[in-house]
Amino acid sequence: MKNIAVFASGSGSNFQAIIDEVERGELSARIALLVCDKQEAKAIERAKMHNIEVFGFDPKAYGSKEEFEQEIKEELQKRNVHFIVLAGYMRLIGPTLLRAYEGSIVNIHPSLLPSFPGKDAIGQALLAGVKVTGVTIHYVDEGMDTGQIIAQEAVSIDQYETKETLTKKIQQVEHYLYSKTLKDLLSK
Ligand code: GAR
Repeated sequence: MKNIAVFASGSGSNFQAIIDEVERGELSARIALLVCDKQEAKAIERAKMHNIEVFGFDPKAYGSKEEFEQEIKEELQKRNVHFIVLAGYMRLIGPTLLRAYEGSIVNIHPSLLPSFPGKDAIGQALLAGVKVTGVTIHYVDEGMDTGQIIAQEAVSIDQYETKETLTKKIQQVEHYLYSKTLKDLLSK
């Protein structure tokens, strides 16, 4: 069974979906650590409820990304983590972690990449007036949402769609698509 770490910055609903799959025995992995760059993130509460260790850090307390990623790397290595799952972690991964975990970092993004990378992908899709958006799971490289695509699923944007209704539809797809994809990747 692989030890994984989940990185999150916010609510952590994807993190919760992964916890649930692991606890149901559907996903064969051990969540060894939550890495979180926001003290007030709900993801931290979720980790505590499920006895998952947390490495919380304030990026502003470090001189550079290299410095905090070095510390993250040490925390991961201490726990024998072999795979990193980004779940709403709103930072680019730098060379320190990319080198240590080459080909073993995945991310989920709420659009059909390469459309609408970066922040507020759902708002970007609504603003562009497209009729279809979706969810992408991809390997992480040095770019912003640019790594090799692993899985995608489309979500339609209906006539009276609001940001709230579209977010709900996208989240539903994210939660099952991430679990399904992780099952495949972690069984390899
Ligand atoms: C998710 O929709 C995820 O795809 C997105 O942040 C949200 C986190 O939600 N990630 C990105 O936009 C990355 N570029 P969650 O905290 O409830 O899992």
